[in-house]
Amino acid sequence: MATIQWFPGHMAKAKRQVAEKLRFVDIVFELVDARLPYSSRNPMLDEIIQQKPRIILLNKTDLADPVQTKQWLTYFEARGQLALALNAKDDKSVKQIVPAAKRVLAAKLAREKEKGLRERAIRAMVLGIPNVGKSTLLNHLAGKKIATTGNKPGVTKGQQWLRFGSQLELLDTPGILWPKFEDPAVGKKLALTGAIKDDLLHLDDLALYELEVFRQFYPAGLEERYQLSAEDLSLELPELLLLITKKRGFKDDYERGSELLINELRQGKLGRFTLDRFEEFSE
Ligand code: G4P
Repeated sequence: MATIQWFPGHMAKAKRQVAEKLRFVDIVFELVDARLPYSSRNPMLDEIIQQKPRIILLNKTDLADPVQTKQWLTYFEARGQLALALNAKDDKSVKQIVPAAKRVLAAKLAREKEKGLRERAIRAMVLGIPNVGKSTLLNHLAGKKIATTGNKPGVTKGQQWLRFGSQLELLDTPGILWPKFEDPAVGKKLALTGAIKDDLLHLDDLALYELEVFRQFYPAGLEERYQLSAEDLSLELPELLLLITKKRGFKDDYERGSELLINELRQGKLGRFTLDRFEEFSE
């Protein structure tokens, strides 16, 4: 899991390094976690990339609530931004990217053709906060392990291009940006999905938050996994946490119960879920 400590100096450096690389690319692929289409975006990305064409890739859709993902796609579309649902581990899914980039850049490519320029590969860079799947996407596109990123801000290596057939060239190192830290709810969501280290937050706070969300939106996941009744689910949240802890044989060690809940959520054992609820952002 990513360890991030962002300081103002890091942020400024990351921003500058990404900005330097931008002039070499036609388009930016902004990777976000489909379970957090708001919270896993960098708050200053618009300012950083300005008018550069962009595709928002809602990655890890295999883990997200499919109904919410569809709604989020319409959310971005309504704001004039092209977004695609992606599973960076899946061939068919990754193959949508080049045609989509060509659509976004159609006017630019047509102008180049009119000027008699040779047809060329589209140049792109992958950007996103830690853990959204940037390396996985690059590795998958390349068909081998090529991107070892660490979690350094910005683009850390010299500028090298990875070629994917004749149609796409990608900067070999993704741009790593910082998540939104100011909002505590965002911090909890990032920690729950593993984007930031959970020792920044109390495990029981995270587990209580998880129970609150699942009880409201995905009660079946909890009921099935922990053999709970509808009545159990109406307990006060700390009581519910203790009940699950007991059912798992941890007596009243709710720290262990919390850890279990968080791990099982991350392993997908409670089913697919989306923490940023489209309804809350669509007004
Ligand atoms: P980053 O470069 O943006 O920091 O992210 P990275 O590719 O390292 O991916 C972070 C974790 O997310 C990895 O899991 C990776 O396998 C997983 N991942 C990336 N894309 C997808 C996706 O579309 N669906 C699913 N289900 N998982 C995805 P890990 O547990 O850290 O490593 P491992 O399981 O690959 O060993």
